[in-house]
Amino acid sequence: MLLPSPRGPLSAAIREVLLESPGDGRDGVVAAAELLRQDGSQRDLLHDEDFQITLFLLHALHYRRIAGVDDRWEWDPDLLRVRQVLEDRFETSLRELVDEEAPPIRTAEDVAQVLFERARNAPGPSVSRFVARRATQEQVLEWLVQKSPYQLMEADPHTWAIPRLTGPAKAALVEIQSDEYGGGIPGRMHAEMFRTTMATAGLRTNYGAYLDHIPAITLAGVNAMTLFGLNRRLRGAVAGHLAMFEMTSSQPNRNYARGLRRLNWPEPAAAYFDEHVEADAVHEQIAGRELAGRLVEDHPDEWPNVLFGADCALQLDRLAGEHYLESWTGGRTSLRKPLPSSARDEVVA
Ligand SMILES: [Fe+2]
Ligand SMILES: [Fe+2]
Repeated sequence: MLLPSPRGPLSAAIREVLLESPGDGRDGVVAAAELLRQDGSQRDLLHDEDFQITLFLLHALHYRRIAGVDDRWEWDPDLLRVRQVLEDRFETSLRELVDEEAPPIRTAEDVAQVLFERARNAPGPSVSRFVARRATQEQVLEWLVQKSPYQLMEADPHTWAIPRLTGPAKAALVEIQSDEYGGGIPGRMHAEMFRTTMATAGLRTNYGAYLDHIPAITLAGVNAMTLFGLNRRLRGAVAGHLAMFEMTSSQPNRNYARGLRRLNWPEPAAAYFDEHVEADAVHEQIAGRELAGRLVEDHPDEWPNVLFGADCALQLDRLAGEHYLESWTGGRTSLRKPLPSSARDEVVA
């Protein structure tokens, strides 16, 4: 991945730090931490470009090579402290966003029913229906780009939770992730199938190729998953988030596939979405009953965090969806800047 462009003073400072070696960058980290300490303002962090790209970048150190960056920064204690401050503030914003009492439950089935009920009443506009019926070719390209920071590493953030679970919940997560990773067939890995969709659309497929285009609210959705995944105390949130992801996936993916076919995109572009219509109808059952359900049945104190993760999935999806649809129906790009014309020109006929 290439280092993203800075979006404000904090991301500029962290970018400079990462271009040094951990030994030489110490002063820069201290300066960045000071910048953060002074900036205690109550902004809307979910839409804050400088905040979200910085957290995304610090998380990226745990996932992949960043060109020009010394890998040892991943475990640099001073940089980890900066990440911790960002994560604390981000988690506070997320808890304010959802802020709901957990209804009483007793069994795994109760847990699944509460989650299915929330999925049925998912808030916000339907991006998938818009894509199915109305989206232009250019809007669908934008939407693929918006999805790419997560979908090109699909399943990875939730995988952090595997060693942090035990028993039936762990077995359930491994079963789901095995499908996400293609069951041993590289070409069936969901991230690879999404890569095929992007390539068919004439988009670049290297990770982060369009990162500078991606707005904060999209990054916030990815950052929430990584926040949950990297913090063992939030493993319940991983379970709830994944369950809600799966429960709100099957029908929307049917709509997305319909949209691509309406625009006469070649069949390989739709394979990723077709796959999710089938797979996630199964995954939602496993995730609701066996992963989230059994986790809470065996560890009742996990219930508030399971619900927190599930509600974050719903609310962040709502905010992102509102942004995309308001942009498109208002005749604007949903990205921070329009896609380069080269991306549009290569679109399949
Ligand atoms: Fe998937
Ligand atoms: Fe799935």
